[in-house]
Order: sequence, then structure tokens, then C-alpha cells
Amino acid sequence: MRIDVVSIFPTIFDALEVSLLGKARTTGLLDVRVHDLRDYTHDRHRTVDDTPYGGGAGMVMKPEPWGEALDDVTRDAESRPVIIFPSPAGERFTQATARELSTASHLVFGCGRYEGIDERVFDYADELGDVRLISLGDYVLNGGEVAVMAMVEAIGRLIPGVVGNPESLVEESHEDGLLEYPSFTKPAVWREREVPPVLLSGNHGAVASWRREQQLERTRERRPDLLSD
Ligand code: ADE
Repeated sequence: MRIDVVSIFPTIFDALEVSLLGKARTTGLLDVRVHDLRDYTHDRHRTVDDTPYGGGAGMVMKPEPWGEALDDVTRDAESRPVIIFPSPAGERFTQATARELSTASHLVFGCGRYEGIDERVFDYADELGDVRLISLGDYVLNGGEVAVMAMVEAIGRLIPGVVGNPESLVEESHEDGLLEYPSFTKPAVWREREVPPVLLSGNHGAVASWRREQQLERTRERRPDLLSD
């Protein structure tokens, strides 16, 4: 998968070079290209923002650098990319979104800052790819960078080959609409706390039904919204 990220803080994405995703980049499973939005400006101050028409607080990102950046990263695209703008005003990012996007061959992420990006940029981007405005959750971050880091990690680990043991992707929170069951390892007793005996019983059927029950109980307690959806 090819991923282009456009941001005024490109060094934030240096963190993608470590761990599993870093390995996926060196083995070629993930081709991540990070671009500095200011490289697409032409004035001495490399200006990317301006005051909003109609007044109001804050600054808005200018359309011209975005237009040039999007033209550049989609120019030699082999397929129509999905162009994602992280935004608290977007659709909610879920495990299902991550699954869907993990099948795309080219993702472009545009990180907004300040009060947002000039609205015409989204309309223009629609000519270059399939535009999605996506929110990580119902809270406001200072910019899209941290949201993109989270999305790239959630999507990247679903690409076949990125996670060494694909079975570890099956039994985890949100894959079946429930939270994950609790896990334990050795020793069987630690600081007077025992591992639930059923896990030491060797009875696979009993273990499976205990885990299912734990998933339901946790989900009922912590995330009842997942059961009523
Ligand atoms: N940018 C600012 N807040 C955000 C959020 N909650 N999700 C995605 N992008 C954002």
C-alpha cells in the first residue's frame, strides 16, 4: 500500500519508522511518503494560512498550497486514491473503517491545522480521489497529525504480512463487536493474585465459553453502547 501524508509538521511522522510499521516499510509492504505542505508555497514566509472570510477567530489554511500538494501526490497514482482529511467534523473512525481502508492501494492523508482548511479544497480533492473526512472521536485535537498516526497504525497492521501472526488479529477488541477477554501469563500466582482456574484446566471448551462470558460482561460494563447498536 502507498500512503502519502501532507502536513506542516512532517517530522511527527518519523515515529512511523519504528516497530512493526517500520519493518513493513523496509520490507516494502508499506510505502509511506511524508510531504511538507510548506514546500508547496511560493512566498518568502512559506505561508499556509490566512484570516477567515466573514470574520471570526483563528486562521484558515489557504487553498493554493493544498491544491499543489494534492496534484503532486496524486500525479503518478496507479489507481484512484482515497483522500482522507482527519477532522472532528467527519465520520467516526472504527475498526470497520480500518478494515475497509486496509484494502485500498493508495491512501492520501491531508493534515489540517488552525481552524481548518478552506472548504474548496475538499471539493477539488474530489476530482483527484475519493474524499473522506474522518474523526478519531468526539474531542478536538490541535491538528490532524496525531489522528493520522493512529489511523495509519490501525490500517497498516491489517495489511496481510504486517503483523507476523495473523491469528492475533482475530481475537481482539472490536473485531467481533465486543471488547477483548482478559489475558494472563505465568506465574499462576503473582502477589497473591491467582489466574482464573479455568485457564489452567486444559478444557478448551470451558476456556472458550469463559472467555466469551468475560467479553460480554466487560462490554456490558464498559461499553453498553456496543451491545445496543
Ligand atoms: N483533528 C482535530 N480533531 C480531530 C479529531 N477528533 N479526529 C480527527 N482529526 C482531528
